[in-house]
Order: sequence, then structure tokens, then C-alpha cells
Amino acid sequence: MTSREGLVKQAKKVLEQNWLGYATKPAPRLYPHQWSWDSAFIAMAYAHYDSPRAIQEMRSLFEGQWQNGLLPHIIFNQKASDYSPGPEFWRIDRSPHASKDVMTSGIIQPPVHATSILHIAHQDPDRDRGLAFLREMFPKLKSWHAYLYKERDLEQNGLISIRHPWESGQDNSPIWDQALSRIRIEAGMVPEYRRVDTDIVNVIERPTTAEYDHYAYLVKNFYENDYDESRIFQSSPFIIQDVLFNSLLVQANRDLSTIAHLVGEDSQIFDQWAMQTSNAMNEKLWDSTHGIYFDYDLVSGQAIHAHVAAGFSPLYAGVPNAAQAELILANLNTYGFCPLDEVCWAVPSYDKLEPGYSPSRYWRGPVWINVNWVLYRGLCRYGFQAYAEHVKQAIIKLPSEYGFYEYFDPDTGQGHGSESFSWTAALLLDLLLEEENYGQFD
Ligand code: GLC
Repeated sequence: MTSREGLVKQAKKVLEQNWLGYATKPAPRLYPHQWSWDSAFIAMAYAHYDSPRAIQEMRSLFEGQWQNGLLPHIIFNQKASDYSPGPEFWRIDRSPHASKDVMTSGIIQPPVHATSILHIAHQDPDRDRGLAFLREMFPKLKSWHAYLYKERDLEQNGLISIRHPWESGQDNSPIWDQALSRIRIEAGMVPEYRRVDTDIVNVIERPTTAEYDHYAYLVKNFYENDYDESRIFQSSPFIIQDVLFNSLLVQANRDLSTIAHLVGEDSQIFDQWAMQTSNAMNEKLWDSTHGIYFDYDLVSGQAIHAHVAAGFSPLYAGVPNAAQAELILANLNTYGFCPLDEVCWAVPSYDKLEPGYSPSRYWRGPVWINVNWVLYRGLCRYGFQAYAEHVKQAIIKLPSEYGFYEYFDPDTGQGHGSESFSWTAALLLDLLLEEENYGQFD
């Protein structure tokens, strides 16, 4: 077992190796560009020991923001030409809003950015620099959240919709199966694309070709509609109100409200958004029979009954009341999600008792450190210390015993996907280093 100091050193080394000079790539070969929510998680670690780098990480991400506020999920690294699908796949030149100078994708990822940016300022030993950074980022964050409520709140109830599985960050989750299977792929519907993921990691851990065809088809629909959100939503077969996305947004709105206070701006709208989204999650996404929140498919008009760990993420944002939270804890503490009294690693991303569960396939069972981090914070918020500790132990011990992998087998702990994965290192660092740090705005 590595010592705490040794582990901190190794984790910092992973981030250092993935540093591109202006931002951090998620992994050495599999993900050579800058990814949106990865950077927000990565910057949370830098915030503890290298504030200028944390600031740089988020600054470079927002350089790719579109004029309508859309924050793209990938900012392409011009020097990494061996990644596919690359910038040309997205045809963002067809959007009147896309950045002209920075090459980006045309979809989004979960909005953890306000949370990360507040944390960076909070940890900065130079209070003035932290405040100046908040002042610089406030208008960009406001425009990002305003885009979500203007373009993605289709029912005007505060629930934000995603229009591609990749927007959820849980790319290959079973949540999307039904919606994707409704799309009948015929000749000529799928644009040409090339994959490199299956050259780098084991093909059985990655999405199938049929799934990838669906992903590509959806992207074609975006550019054929010139990235006009209302036209896309009128024609899209894939529109989903996702639990994890909305949970992270509720907290991000609260954090943006705090940022507004700190920089002397009006904070009211952010509190309103947080409340509206949280209420709508309870009204529409909560399932009291199973003690979990389910995604909602706006095309079929039905809840998606996929028992995924992300269904417990509303704990993170304080969305459930005490009685709902108890039901969630009871559900988490069962065989399918690795209970306290079993020898296993918490928390499998998908219920082990579900038919499509796999301990090694991307988002269909393995433990992900960022989902654990979200659940750990949520469990602490409700005082569920024993289970919180169980989840925290997995965040620390999985990388220390098996390496800094992208995801881990919930039974054996074996690492899968890419090694030297940045957010695995970063979120472990966040937990280890938060014990010794102070905050500026307490
Ligand atoms: C995978 C994950 C996604 C992440 C990306 C880069 O596609 O599903 O959430 O952002 O890798 O790490």
C-alpha cells in the first residue's frame, strides 16, 4: 500500500504528464484534446496546489465558448492529429454562433464549471487574484447557464435536456439504449467517420459499431440544421432530461449565485434557476417505489427505468428531502450497488443485478471516480457517514492498488480503459488535499 505522500506525488505526476502547456488532456493517447467537464474536475485538484494552473485550465476551456453561450465538450488540440472523430466531423462552421478561431465540437457536457471556478478562487492564497478571476469568469458562466435555460429548457419547467448521449458525460450508459434503438439506421444516414478508441483499448470495453453509427447520425442532424437548437429539437429522435446533468446544474447555479455576491452582481436569477430545476426533478424524475431518480425521455414521453448510480446524484445538490434521502441510501446499500457488508468496490455505475450489467464495459457497470466523488459529496451532505466513507475508500484505494485507470471492475478492482486518467488522479487529490487546505471566503 502506497503512503499518502507517495500517492499524492503519483497523482500529481499523472496530471503533469497530461499537461499540454495550456490545459490538461484527460488521458495520454485515448483523449488527446481538452474535454469540458474533465477540465472542471482537473482544475479542482490544481486549486489545492497550483492556482495559476487551475485558472489557466478553465480560461483555455472558455476560449472555445460559442457566442450563444454554448460551452463545447471538446476543444481540439491542433497538434493531436491522430484522434478521430476530429474537428471536421462536427462541421461547426455551419453554426453562426461557433467560435471562428478555436476548433471545437458542437455539443456540451455537464455544467460543473461554476462549482470548479468558485472552488479555485476559494483556495487561491492570493485573495485578489481569486476575486479578479471570478470577475473575469462571471459573464462567461452567466452566458453558459443562460444558454441552458434559453435553449434546453424545452418544457419551461427548469429541466434541461440533452440531445446526444455524449452530452451526459456517461457516453455508453444503458440509459440511452431505448432511445437509440428507436433510430432505424438506413443506407446513407450515417456520415463517414473513423474511430481510434478501439485501436487503443480493448474493443469489448467500448461502444459497439451500431451505437457509434447512432452517435454519428445524431451529429449529422445537428449540422444539417446549422446548430439551430429549435430546428434540432423539432427533428431529433433523442431528447432526454438527465438526472446527473440537472443535479450538477442545481449546485452550479448555487455556486454561481455565490460568485455573483462576491463580485457584486445580482444573484437572484441563479437562485431561482436552482430552485426551479430542483423542484422539477422531484416532481418529474423521482421514483419513490425504487428510491432513485430516473431520466425522462421527452420523445417517447416516458421515464427511463435504468438503475444507474447517477440516479442517486441529486443527493449532491441537496435535492431530495430527508425521507427521500433515506430511501436512496437504502437502495444504494444493496447488492446491486455494493453494500457496506460485502467485499466489493462501491459504486458500480449500473446495478449488478440488471441484465446488461458488465464489470468492464464503459459506463455499464464499472466504478467511475467522478461519479463516486459526486456521490461522496452528496452522502456527506446528508450525514450518511458510513456509506460516504465506503465510497471515499474506493476513490483512494482503487487507484493506489490498481493504477490511475479510467474505470474499475467493482468486484476485482482491476482497472480498465485508459491508464494515467486525469480526473481519477485529480479527484483523489481533491479529497486528500482538502483536509489540509483553507478557504478564502468562509
Ligand atoms: C469518455 C467519458 C466522458 C469524458 C471523456 C474524456 O468519453 O465518457 O465523460 O469526458 O471520456 O475523458
